[in-house]
Amino acid sequence: MLEVLDQIEREALSALDKVQDEESLQHWKVVHLGRSSPLMTTFDRLGGLPKEERPAIGRRANEVKRVLETSCNTREESLRQVFLLRTLRSEKLDVTLPGRWLTQGRLHPTTQTLRQIYRIFGDMGFQVYRSREVEIDEYNFELLNIPAHHPARDMWDTFHTTTAGVALRPHTSPGQIHVMREYAPEPIRVILPGMCYRYEQVSARKETQFNQVEGLAVGNEITMGDLKGTLSDFARRMFDHNVRIRFRASHFPFTEPSAEMDIECFLCGGVGCRVCQGSGWLEILGCGMVHPTVLRNGGYDPRKSMGFAFGLGPERITMLRHHIEDIRYFWANDMRFLEQF
Ligand code: FA5
Repeated sequence: MLEVLDQIEREALSALDKVQDEESLQHWKVVHLGRSSPLMTTFDRLGGLPKEERPAIGRRANEVKRVLETSCNTREESLRQVFLLRTLRSEKLDVTLPGRWLTQGRLHPTTQTLRQIYRIFGDMGFQVYRSREVEIDEYNFELLNIPAHHPARDMWDTFHTTTAGVALRPHTSPGQIHVMREYAPEPIRVILPGMCYRYEQVSARKETQFNQVEGLAVGNEITMGDLKGTLSDFARRMFDHNVRIRFRASHFPFTEPSAEMDIECFLCGGVGCRVCQGSGWLEILGCGMVHPTVLRNGGYDPRKSMGFAFGLGPERITMLRHHIEDIRYFWANDMRFLEQF
């Protein structure tokens, strides 16, 4: 019996030497240490042996079992090391190789300008108020002192929807009525940013879709001087302390008196060019003192309250800041343009 155990040990160890991978090791375990292996069946047969032989054979069987288990563990560990080394070699990483450039996202140039506008007016105490892009005729025009069929409507080439009396807003001014109706008779100091839409001939200065930032201040003692001071200060902070600006008398049905503010053309330095259409100036906003009818429509008593309003064009301001000579670049989605900002 002892010789049989010696032979079991020899054969098992020699088979273990030939094991080269995890799968054959598992197979080896089943054959040499499994329940029906010659070694394990020896244990089952111990009870049938003569009493005096049992201790020696039992001891030897246990010893063979220990040897086989230890050798199996050692083999398992060495196989793991071989596998690890092979993996390390095949998946070698050259840390000196130059990395791949990650493409970096940027804010759209108009968004950058808008954020600067919020900052400047925020410093002056203006809060941001959002209003809707799809408006009814009443807010778009009527409450702004522009009745139906009035020729002043031609100033805003409007995109109408298939629902009668509903249009995409051509300017942010309808937001004035929303904010006034929400806060009257309290004083207001807000800016209303948002997208506007106009059905107009696209050119270097005009798009069918563009941003506007409306401004509105209503209180007891607000004058045209406050309006000019606020907008001049805005221009100085937005562009440069030496920027040349001018106010030009204009007409808007919802303000009286009305004006437009121009900035000296960046491209020609005031001489006259394609962008400024030969005038040397670029219009960036319309403004004026809120018309008494509009104040009344907003819920204020025009005998007690007065206010100023303005509507500026962030794309035009961005053109001036970055010397961009055509507004069409803004929505062309050309990465070569966008990546510059
Ligand atoms: C208005 O839209 C008035 N609602 C502004 C206003 C508000 C006046 C409050 C008085 C009181 P206007 O159409 O001029 O005005 O537009 C205002 C600004 O929006 C322009 O100065 C310009 O900067 C910008 N803008 C107008 N149309 C376009 C366009 N097609 N493309 C790009 N920017 C435009």
